[in-house]
Amino acid sequence: MTPSKGLQKAMNDQVRKEFESAYLYLSMAAWMEDQTLPGFAAWLRLQAREEAIHAMKIFEHLIDRSCRVALQPLAGPPTTFKTPLDVFEQVKKHEEKVTRSIDELYGLAVDDRDYASQVFLEWFITEQVEEEKNSTQVLENVRRVGDNQAALVMLDRELGQRGATAEAGE
Ligand code: FEO
Repeated sequence: MTPSKGLQKAMNDQVRKEFESAYLYLSMAAWMEDQTLPGFAAWLRLQAREEAIHAMKIFEHLIDRSCRVALQPLAGPPTTFKTPLDVFEQVKKHEEKVTRSIDELYGLAVDDRDYASQVFLEWFITEQVEEEKNSTQVLENVRRVGDNQAALVMLDRELGQRGATAEAGE
C-alpha cells in the first residue's frame, strides 16, 4: 500500500525541510569558522550531516513504498549572524519547527491509518526529542558564558570534542 497523495506530498516537503536544515547548519558552521570558533563550527557541521541523513531516510522510504520523489528548490539560509547566542537561539527555534512538521506528518499518517508510515515516523519523533535536548543544552551553555571570552573559548573546545568523537566513530 502506498501512502496517500497528501502524505506523499508532505513527505516530499519534509525531504526539502531536512536538506534546508542541513544548509542552515552548514551556513552557521561557515560563520563560526569566520569567527575563529572551530569547535562550534565542528558541532554545526556534524549537525548538518545528520540533517542530510534524515533527508535521505525519507527519500529512501518514499522509494521503498513506490512513491514519486520530486526534489524541490532549497531556500537560501542566512549567511551572517549576530553572535554565537543568536546562532543557538535560531538552532533551537528551528528544531522546534522541525518537530512540529514531523508531528504533522505523523498526524496525517494516523488520519490515513497508514501504519507503515507511523512506524517509520516514530524514529523521527524520538530523534526530535534528542535534537531539541542537544540544542537546548548548547544554548543554555552559551547563555551562561555571556561575554566571558575565556569561557567561550573553553566551550568551543568542548564542542569540538563532539565532532572529533563522532569522526572517530565513523
Ligand atoms: Fe532533522 Fe534536526 O531535525
